[in-house]
Amino acid sequence: MAAPIRLRDFQRIVFFTGAGMSAESGIPTYRGSGGIWKEYDYQEYACQAAFDRDPEKVWDFHDKRRAAVAKCEPNPGHRIVTRVQEEKPSTVIVTQNIDGMHQRAGAKDVVELHGSLWRVRCDPENVVRPDETMPMDPRKCSCGGYWRPDIVWFEDQLDHRVVRRAREALEECDLLVSIGTSGVVYPAAQLPRIAAERGAMTVEINLEDTPVSSLYRHRLRGKASDVLAELYG
Ligand code: OAD
Repeated sequence: MAAPIRLRDFQRIVFFTGAGMSAESGIPTYRGSGGIWKEYDYQEYACQAAFDRDPEKVWDFHDKRRAAVAKCEPNPGHRIVTRVQEEKPSTVIVTQNIDGMHQRAGAKDVVELHGSLWRVRCDPENVVRPDETMPMDPRKCSCGGYWRPDIVWFEDQLDHRVVRRAREALEECDLLVSIGTSGVVYPAAQLPRIAAERGAMTVEINLEDTPVSSLYRHRLRGKASDVLAELYG
């Protein structure tokens, strides 16, 4: 593939990443064959109602996910994204991923739209803290209630401060590179539109077309790490 653009020609880059970014690390995506939501019903494992009904069951699921992610390593695609951020510190990584892989690859100030598998919070006490225990222990806060994964589950609102950071980055970027997202989960899926409507250069990297592909100037088909290597040049 002859790269249609070079990352080095842009100054303010936003990488907007989804589960396909981590697929080459061995972390399953959510949709498509082998997708997490094919095996697990989100209504049983990934919504507040499920947690209120049976927090132990929801924690067992998240413990399993922590253990699976902990076994995986960042892939060459994550490392290219980090290298670009090191070379151009105004680069912003906006991710829908909760796996912490960008940070493990050395990225800084990652905007985590959907929270993190590696943080917990106590809503009654309004406390959020990092937690990397496996299995998560203790599951209960000193107030007596359960710690909850600090993840944006189905039907939850996104944290408006996090969305604001993402919007600001997209309002200022000269290049948006979307990587490995199906573009079906809102409101995250509408954020790239901010950059597209301003006339920033836009690139979609994915194995296949998505419902939002038409937003992008260049639609590059292939594995994230291969296409990123081409763009990095
Ligand atoms: P999806 O599983 O919906 O989509 C993954 C996308 O990655 C698909 O479009 C694949 O074609 C593409 N893909 C897979 N492997 C790839 C590779 N090696 N290189 C490039 N592309 C690849 O994942 P997301 O779009 O991230 O929410 O899903 C959005 C949200 O839905 C997630 O953040 C998650 C889920 O419910 C939470 O965890 C809160």
